[in-house]
Amino acid sequence: MEQTALMTEMGRDWDKFHASDIARKLPFFSRENRLHDCLFSQQFDRALLDYLFAVADRLRAVTQNKTGADTVSQLLAHKRAMLYFVQPSTRTFLSFLNACHILGLKTSEIRDTSTSSEMKGESPEDTVRTFSSYVDLIIMRHPTPGFVEKTAWFMNRIKRPVPVINGGSGKDQHPTQALLDVYTLHRSLPGGPEGKTIVMVGDLKRGRTVRSLSYLMKNYRGVKLVFVSPPQLRMEADILEFLQRHAIPYRETDDFASVMPEADAIYMTRIQDEHDQAEESKSLDLSRFHFRAQDLKVIKPNAIIMHPLPRRHEIEPVVDDDDRAVFWRQERNGMWIRAALISYIFGVDGQIPAPGKT
Ligand code: NCD
Repeated sequence: MEQTALMTEMGRDWDKFHASDIARKLPFFSRENRLHDCLFSQQFDRALLDYLFAVADRLRAVTQNKTGADTVSQLLAHKRAMLYFVQPSTRTFLSFLNACHILGLKTSEIRDTSTSSEMKGESPEDTVRTFSSYVDLIIMRHPTPGFVEKTAWFMNRIKRPVPVINGGSGKDQHPTQALLDVYTLHRSLPGGPEGKTIVMVGDLKRGRTVRSLSYLMKNYRGVKLVFVSPPQLRMEADILEFLQRHAIPYRETDDFASVMPEADAIYMTRIQDEHDQAEESKSLDLSRFHFRAQDLKVIKPNAIIMHPLPRRHEIEPVVDDDDRAVFWRQERNGMWIRAALISYIFGVDGQIPAPGKT
């Protein structure tokens, strides 16, 4: 079927669209060969990743002085963004908020449905349509899997399509976290992720960050993944199938200590017990999935320790003092790569001055 006809057909029926293969969906979220919405990690290829890293590096450098920061803060001063974050968030929310402010975007926010007309019985879809009338970008975190995608699908059908960025969607995806994670791998490991062994630890079943990061690995040659979790919290089959399809080697284990010495990057995560049905993760012994000060002696001298944060007990706080603990830098990288992504979505990335040219 011809692309436009396909898009029209897919634009009519959400259930049909939602059930479609990702490859068929992706064109729906791009315009003129550029991302319009950012919903899935599968939207990023290697060229785009490298390009966004370069844009983020340029933004960091050029905004170091007032002239550069002022120039960049004019780029989107005529635009407004809505941050609709109806699931707990500290760093993703603040990171996006400040990314918008770096570019001059004005922001408004809803952080709790109890303060919106959803309490009067308005459907979430109508609420989203309402606030889309006032803004030029929607950044959304939502507990219901698929809701962010549905919002973007819906926005692409109306006369004034507003781009949508996924700031964390249920248990399914968190693509901008994956983006900042690979940006961190790129900055902190010589040669970036290529040829590296990346060990992901914790609640791999319900953590959306490890899912989105796994998808991005198809863009790097020679990556090996090791998934470390209790048997009850193993990585879901859809991700394992994706890795097999893309010939990305992985193995699964519950023996963290045995794999520490081979890791180039250790990606720690917390237990996502908000998804428990009957407090089932309370009965698990999670202490074997923690990283302690003594483990610093076991890992490679140039390995890095990452975490999407927030942490609970997975990483002992004294570990923070070691140079290999990069999670606070990882957090800050998020703001810059999100600013790069937003500048790209609006097509102003080419107007960011080179450092020293302001
Ligand atoms: C993660 C999330 O919300 O999925 N946090 C984040 O965005 N940095 C991870 C988590 O909550 O454990």
